[in-house]
Amino acid sequence: MSTPAPEDRPAPQDRLAPEDRKDTMAESAATPAAATTDAKRGPSIATRERRESSINPSGETPYLVVEDLAVKFPTADGLVSAVNGLSYSVPLGRTLAIVGESGSGKSVSSMAVMGLHDRKRTRITGSIRLGGDELVGLPENDLMKIRGDAMAMVFQDPQSSLHPLYTIGNQIVEAYRVHHKVSKDAAKKRALEMLDLVGIPNPQRRFGQYPHEFSGGMRQRAMIAMSLVNDPKLVIADEPTTALDVTVQAQILDLLNNLQKEFGSAIVMITHDLGVVAEMADDVLVMYAGRCVEYGTAEDVLANPRMPYTWGLLESIPTVSAANERLRPIKGLPPSLLDLPAGCSFRPRCPYVDRVKGELCSIELPELMPVDGAGAHTSRCHLHDKASIYAAEVAPRLG
Ligand SMILES: Nc1ncnc2c1ncn2[C@@H]1O[C@H](COP(=O)(O)OP(=O)(O)O)[C@@H](O)[C@H]1O
Ligand code: SF4
Ligand SMILES: [Mg+2]
Repeated sequence: MSTPAPEDRPAPQDRLAPEDRKDTMAESAATPAAATTDAKRGPSIATRERRESSINPSGETPYLVVEDLAVKFPTADGLVSAVNGLSYSVPLGRTLAIVGESGSGKSVSSMAVMGLHDRKRTRITGSIRLGGDELVGLPENDLMKIRGDAMAMVFQDPQSSLHPLYTIGNQIVEAYRVHHKVSKDAAKKRALEMLDLVGIPNPQRRFGQYPHEFSGGMRQRAMIAMSLVNDPKLVIADEPTTALDVTVQAQILDLLNNLQKEFGSAIVMITHDLGVVAEMADDVLVMYAGRCVEYGTAEDVLANPRMPYTWGLLESIPTVSAANERLRPIKGLPPSLLDLPAGCSFRPRCPYVDRVKGELCSIELPELMPVDGAGAHTSRCHLHDKASIYAAEVAPRLG
């Protein structure tokens, strides 16, 4: 057991590594990533195509398509409806951020995509298609072949996926060999490449070390190396930087952005942090009490949000400037998922409920509707004058 060497410390190596590779990555960017960049540059194309489908803000061909997903857990207290009627899609080379408070169903929905729920204790309905293949109802053996290969998950806590008693190198080698019939030497070569790619200095030496010999940021990098060793086309990152300090957080997000440019993968980024959303997302899906309440491109959702819960999330972001400090947490708590109230789930906490005539908010669940009457930016709210309320009351508070 050796004392961590200086390069274990997050800075400055964490910062340097991805930057050093920027040029090479731009050159080797896979076609889908390049196509995405072009599409982003052409707003007219993006706007026209976006109108074609309500669950595809980008208009590009999706790689992951989730439709009407519901995840329920039968418990001694009753049926927990953790996810309800969730639909979204993610093309290759694009990042969807799923954002919402703790308990809103972000992890449960993503674990359903990965097929990680206990089949006996979970009811999953709806459709999850990966590259056109349906995953819901697939036998576990078939799912295992896809998991870690075509799709992989990066967790908040690297300890949960790195085994403490095996060296980092061997774990990456094994993750590779499960899906590739190659010699140990070839797998080791691949593992060393991956360690280098994620910005771990001195890969030869680090290969033989154990997780506890790595700093938090380096462990997260090692886990990312292990998750990406098979070049998955879909990467789900569940709060990948929540446990890290701000500097290392920024470095890991940079790394994921750069790896996406290199591999052209579709990324689902789960976070409760709108700062991470602004940094990473092409598209944003806001979840509340197991349902999507707003969905659109990052530009649409962050600059023109059309749902009181999204407004609340934006108003609760702490700002760096003390003079303009904005930290107005949303009052109250999310409802119990055992017994969801009729009507809008946000009603008990919504400051705008009086602006809707009668008892509509208490009686009828608002549908996810296009905010402009058409287009792919959708929100779930009965308010008629969302745009003017946002412009007159909310936007000024956001500064
Ligand atoms: N196995 C389970 N049995 C019962 N309830 C669960 C189970 N797993 C998650 N839940 C509930 O589902 C809800 C959504 O959880 P989760 O997706 O983890 O939230 P988050 O948005 O914070 O990731 C929570 O209320 C959680 O308690
Ligand atoms: S539907 Fe009603 S309660 Fe729900 S967010 Fe809109 S105004 Fe608020
Ligand atoms: Mg979670």
